[in-house]
Amino acid sequence: MEQKIALIGFGTVGQGLAEILKNKKAELFEIYGYSYTIVAISDMKFGTVFDPDGLDMEKVMSEIQSTGQFSSNRMDWDAVETIRFCNADVICELAFTNLKDGEPALTHCTTAFQSRKHIVTSNKGPAALAYHQMKSLADKHNVLFMIEGTVMSGTPVLNLASGPLAGCQISAVKGILNGTTNYILTQMESGMSYESALQQAQELGYAEADPTGDVEGYDARAKVTILANVVMGVPCRIDEVDCKGITQITAKDIESAKAQGARWKLIGSVEMVDGKLSASVHPEMVSLTHPLAGIMGAVNAVTFTTDLLGDVTIVGAGAGKIETGFSILNDLLAIHKLSLPEDLS
Ligand SMILES: NC(=O)c1ccc[n+]([C@@H]2O[C@H](COP(=O)([O-])OP(=O)(O)OC[C@H]3O[C@@H](n4cnc5c(N)ncnc54)[C@H](OP(=O)(O)O)[C@@H]3O)[C@@H](O)[C@H]2O)c1
Repeated sequence: MEQKIALIGFGTVGQGLAEILKNKKAELFEIYGYSYTIVAISDMKFGTVFDPDGLDMEKVMSEIQSTGQFSSNRMDWDAVETIRFCNADVICELAFTNLKDGEPALTHCTTAFQSRKHIVTSNKGPAALAYHQMKSLADKHNVLFMIEGTVMSGTPVLNLASGPLAGCQISAVKGILNGTTNYILTQMESGMSYESALQQAQELGYAEADPTGDVEGYDARAKVTILANVVMGVPCRIDEVDCKGITQITAKDIESAKAQGARWKLIGSVEMVDGKLSASVHPEMVSLTHPLAGIMGAVNAVTFTTDLLGDVTIVGAGAGKIETGFSILNDLLAIHKLSLPEDLS
């Protein structure tokens, strides 16, 4: 059955997803029997478009490239009306992350569930601030809340824990969850000042104009909160995660770590200690022999500590247009697979 998709937010990730879907249309059908149409897009900047039979995406892309606006099939719906009134089965929530109150994404998710539509999202807000509420609302309406892209973009972290590691007890998850800070620390190790490394990260598009969310550890804290709730299964509020960023790390600290055969990393971790969850983000001197010490530049990595397999580390992209677009595709394919009759899946 053809999957009908609506996109809420059509920035980097939304356009990355549209590109992947277009380029891989034949391959996805041939290998997975997956076919789709994008029936609606609602974006703050471009407006809203809707066609119940599927939008002509070539036309949509050429319109925004030439005029910066959607024009054909234009509606005067906002995002919430689009979610409510369009005929999509799945809403891809790709608007901005707000870690204060989760809006507007929380309302987008709630509206989708109440309209019996699945949510696929890379937006950390709803997952970090209200995972259990969102999951129960989705369950109540018999739809899915899919969030693989919220931690390490398309690198499978949440799916690794629930899929290939099923049957293992995971006692800790520890990792480098923010590419910007890892890039800055890597540059500082090769002699650059914090200020120059940050400026370079901004020029390369890793850090935003306001880098606070990255350098103070807030982005990593949201991911740690998601890991605590989803992987460890322990209810954890974002303000219960101890958090310290990298702004206090000096050139002297970097040299001192080197002298001790170690290097500084911003480590996010969740761990069961005496039956209680401990969750934190802080700079840590990691021995050069630890797998996380070798993770340089904007790359991310997490190590799962398990009872049956010991430590398992996964390394990969933590951001990017195509990398995060892939996380959305992966969840869309999972929904498609679940909707197949059993003998075909
Ligand atoms: N880019 C990545 O590598 C990456 C990685 C992991 C997770 N994520 C997360 O994925 C989500 C999308 O990221 P992105 O990089 O695509 O962001 P983006 O480039 O800023 O795009 C977001 C788009 O959503 C629009 N928007 C904002 N509020 C909206 C609303 N209420 N209704 C409809 N559209 C709205 C924005 O319009 P305006 O610009 O006019 O506000 C913008 O066009 C974010 O939550 C982000 O944190 C991104």
